[in-house]
Amino acid sequence: MDNKKFYITTPIYYPSDKLHIGHSYTTVACDAIARYKRAKGYDVMFLTGTDEHGQKIQDKAAAKGVTPKEYVDAIVATVKDLWKVMDVSYDRFIRTTDDYHVKSVQAIFTRLYEKGDIYKSTYKGMYCKPCESFWTEAQLKDGCCPDCGGPVYEAEEEAYFFKTGKYADRLLQYYEDHPDFIQPATRKNEMIAFIKQGLQDTCVSRTSVSWGIPVPFDPKHTIYVWIDALSNYITALGYGNDTYHDYDKFWPANLHMVGKEILRFHTIIWPAMLMALDLPLPKKVFGHGWLLLGGGKMSKSKGNVVDPVQLCDRYGVDAVRYFLLREVPFGNDGAFTNEALINRINTDLANDLGNLLSRTVAMCEKYFGGTVQNAPIDEALSGLMANLPARVDADMEALDVPAALTHIFELVQRANKYIDETAPWVLAKNEADRPRLNQVLFNLCSALELIAALLQPYLPNTAPKMAEQLGVDANELHSLLREEAAGVIRSGYTVHKGEALFPRIDVAKEIAYLEAEDAKRKAEAEAANAAAAAASEPAAEIGDHEAEIDYDTFTKVEIRVGLVRACEAMKESKKLLHLTVFDGERERCILSGIAKWYKPEDLTGKRVPIVANLAPRPMMKGKYTSEGMILAADTADGGCSIAFYGDDVPVGTRIH
Ligand code: MSP
Repeated sequence: MDNKKFYITTPIYYPSDKLHIGHSYTTVACDAIARYKRAKGYDVMFLTGTDEHGQKIQDKAAAKGVTPKEYVDAIVATVKDLWKVMDVSYDRFIRTTDDYHVKSVQAIFTRLYEKGDIYKSTYKGMYCKPCESFWTEAQLKDGCCPDCGGPVYEAEEEAYFFKTGKYADRLLQYYEDHPDFIQPATRKNEMIAFIKQGLQDTCVSRTSVSWGIPVPFDPKHTIYVWIDALSNYITALGYGNDTYHDYDKFWPANLHMVGKEILRFHTIIWPAMLMALDLPLPKKVFGHGWLLLGGGKMSKSKGNVVDPVQLCDRYGVDAVRYFLLREVPFGNDGAFTNEALINRINTDLANDLGNLLSRTVAMCEKYFGGTVQNAPIDEALSGLMANLPARVDADMEALDVPAALTHIFELVQRANKYIDETAPWVLAKNEADRPRLNQVLFNLCSALELIAALLQPYLPNTAPKMAEQLGVDANELHSLLREEAAGVIRSGYTVHKGEALFPRIDVAKEIAYLEAEDAKRKAEAEAANAAAAAASEPAAEIGDHEAEIDYDTFTKVEIRVGLVRACEAMKESKKLLHLTVFDGERERCILSGIAKWYKPEDLTGKRVPIVANLAPRPMMKGKYTSEGMILAADTADGGCSIAFYGDDVPVGTRIH
């Protein structure tokens, strides 16, 4: 019975921003596989969700002036809407902020600690203050933070570590004993090489990130990223909690589908964690490539993020699903272009599939009043039709979704050619050819029914529409995929003409429209970038006089003496200095446009006047938040001058 269960997972997505077409790619691929397995009679559990903790989300929320939970709640709602639009048939949606998950992760962490597989030590690395992130030397880009490009310095903090290294040999042995565990095979070699170069233990807690699950026995630490995130695959089944009770039924997972950049976490850290917990390992982890735009990964600031909801609104969800599933050779990177999308819609869907159905239905109506009788299947189609389910099955077993679609469309093309070869309109001219005409149309209807059945997992809206036009109960399509029902013979078809499945698109007009939209998006991104850059520049000239204010208004400005504890030049801007200023209570980051006049060493250790109650301001496209302002006077030669206080004035003193 066990082989009739199938547990498939997507990665859990960071709800730091709305998801884009790249995320849809992973999820739609999983959806097609889940639907295929259901159609084959499997009991499927399809899990997706969101990975909601961490510094990035905390920062984004702060920049928006909301709590992290409020921030993720809003984004998660858009994620769920997106999956609804894209017809993603997930069975369960996990959020790492769900109480049951939090409780289970704490139990997992404690168990690993009690077993001795998690221990406390200090984490040493290169630290980027604005990003509050530690990096290894190897991760740095030109000696700077790989995320924001800013300066890093050596630092250490107390942290818990998971003994990943202890499991290196067992992992290599496991790969050898389970050659299908890591897919595609090329990526397996990368993982083996990674382990063989020496597997480090993994840092699994932070004291500097508050938006996370507290370590239950040491709550100044939060559980860092991967233990929290990876555990979702079992907590969502009820491991360590009473919310769900599906662990025994569905674990181990049949397939974790992940992007290539997170394959390492899923094939090294996750299996090592499971070994430490004495739990079985997932059967397969597939690392797919990326959907690229203009040769690069999508990014909001580049203005090259494709919004899947807009595409679905314009072309229909099945057209977008088809493109995603067919265009990219599975496992490799692939490109998204407007031309490729429209070409796929016009060629495969409108011309080949849509025309095949509309021509067939129209001819059945015209020549037989809509009803054709059972007749033998011609050799021209029978071989292909008989073998197709098995071919598609082999493709799906190999997780090669594009190949499955390619093979189904071979039948579409063959059936179109069959119309040209048999020329029903010629047969129709001769009364003696009516039996043959009936046979030809029956053949076409049969081929179309099989095509509809096979297309269900990929085009869940189109298949029932095809069934309706063919006069077939859409619920019966499933049975065509099951071995036990193979060879269902229809006594005939009574067709009903319907709307075109995929209206043909005017290529020139549509490309012009899409290019205009792209340009609009880029212009918006550029304007946003320019506004952020402008916001990060020093204030322009101030008018000579402001309107008179009363004393109460003046006292609302909180000017204090701040101590510059650190000051650094910024890689991203020649004009700005990055200051770490102690205000008597806490350290704050202040970016100040004074680099032309002051060197970092001129300011370090100095006491300066700061505006302490200025609202925090995101700068450098949100990479930094400046929490205050250093007061400086313009000099006659166009420079600037900062007043320094002596040691006799305590740090934090109010200036009136
Ligand atoms: N939260 C982690 C995953 C934890 S799983 C226990 C994460 N989240 S993510 O939102 O950054 O990415 C989720 C998935 O989306 C990854 O598998 C990633 O590869 C995929 N994609 C993001 N952009 C993509 C494309 N442009 N193309 C294809 N997949 C892409 O990593």
